[in-house]
Amino acid sequence: MSEVLSSRQVALAALCEVEKGGQANSVLADALNRVDEELSSRDKNFVTELVQGTIRMRRALDHLWAPFVKRELDVEVKVAVRLGVYQLVFLGTPPHAALNATVDIVPRRVKGLVNAVLRRVSETQTNFPTGAVKNSYPDWIWNWAEKEWGLDGQAALIAMNSAERPEKRLDGYIQGSASRWVCSEVDAASPNGGLLLDVCAAPGGKTTGLGHQWDIVVGADHSALRASVLAELQHRLNPPRRAVQADARFPPFRPQCADAVLVDAPCTGLGAMGRRSDARWHIGKGAIERLAEQQLRILNASCQLLKPGGILTYSVCTFTKKETIGVSEDFASQNTNMEPVALDSQRWRHLGTGGIVLPQDYGTDGMAIFQWRLA
Ligand SMILES: C[S@@+](CC[C@H](N)C(=O)[O-])C[C@H]1O[C@@H](n2cnc3c(N)ncnc32)[C@H](O)[C@@H]1O
Repeated sequence: MSEVLSSRQVALAALCEVEKGGQANSVLADALNRVDEELSSRDKNFVTELVQGTIRMRRALDHLWAPFVKRELDVEVKVAVRLGVYQLVFLGTPPHAALNATVDIVPRRVKGLVNAVLRRVSETQTNFPTGAVKNSYPDWIWNWAEKEWGLDGQAALIAMNSAERPEKRLDGYIQGSASRWVCSEVDAASPNGGLLLDVCAAPGGKTTGLGHQWDIVVGADHSALRASVLAELQHRLNPPRRAVQADARFPPFRPQCADAVLVDAPCTGLGAMGRRSDARWHIGKGAIERLAEQQLRILNASCQLLKPGGILTYSVCTFTKKETIGVSEDFASQNTNMEPVALDSQRWRHLGTGGIVLPQDYGTDGMAIFQWRLA
């Protein structure tokens, strides 16, 4: 009992930090590190489920409890109520257990209030919402996915309410399958290897996940902080590979020097909301247009780096039409010397001259990929 209670206390403290502006994945990682000795791995998984689930389902949870509270709640109390409702509604915890466990972890002065609210929610759960509220997304995300992808869009958003479970590579690095599939396509398109420039490389998952055919792999990133994380990872996993800080719109590499360029571009990340539980609450609609412009500029600069016959790969962990097929078509129309390359694996759904996996296809991030060869 005390272990379970302490898991919930750890979760509550982490949720409060996130509510005050912390980034969910790093707050959770720090919280778990602090209790590394005290909690079993089962308890840590429970903390993870409570924190990520409560953040993800915030909109649906607030819809369920808010009608029973007439005043503004302190952050800690509001978060505790969400945590209680999450257990009641989404984890199927029996009402008495969810109520007692939640009341136990709130300050004495609000125990009565929290108890009353959770009791009301447990009695009225059948009054459940639909659409964006039920699945806990901002309206614009729900409407965009439905407009561009229809039922597939809704299925994608619903799939991202269960976290992706990334696997450990043989070298110990934890990476989602869709990212590994991008690496496989980069490798398959250039069997003779040579020099590869990975121009948006940090933190380095793909740079360090490429095959052994490459003679030289250089990873670059615009952010100094992220480039240093990349350098550290390169050093730990692939000592001969290099890391530099550089803006891919103005790359500091010789024209026509590379056999392959990978542009794993900055994007809205709307396909990665499964592993970033708070992302849906921060991504703005305006980011799509802004990032698509940046993606196109990076691609235009990157193709100048290719030797004749060299391969350009463009990948993004999103599924907006603008950042995927839109950018690829704009790029192809501005660079008629770039010939589309067919993807190696059948797992990708066709999308223009490239491919995409949606989160519901294999339980991974949503990821799009396009490849071209310089004629
Ligand atoms: C999707 S992430 C890359 C993930 C990485 N390839 C991996 O697999 O670990 C995009 C990266 O692009 C970087 N970035 C953003 N704008 C950039 C620019 N103009 N030039 C180079 N890197 C940029 C960001 O700092 C971020 O690290």
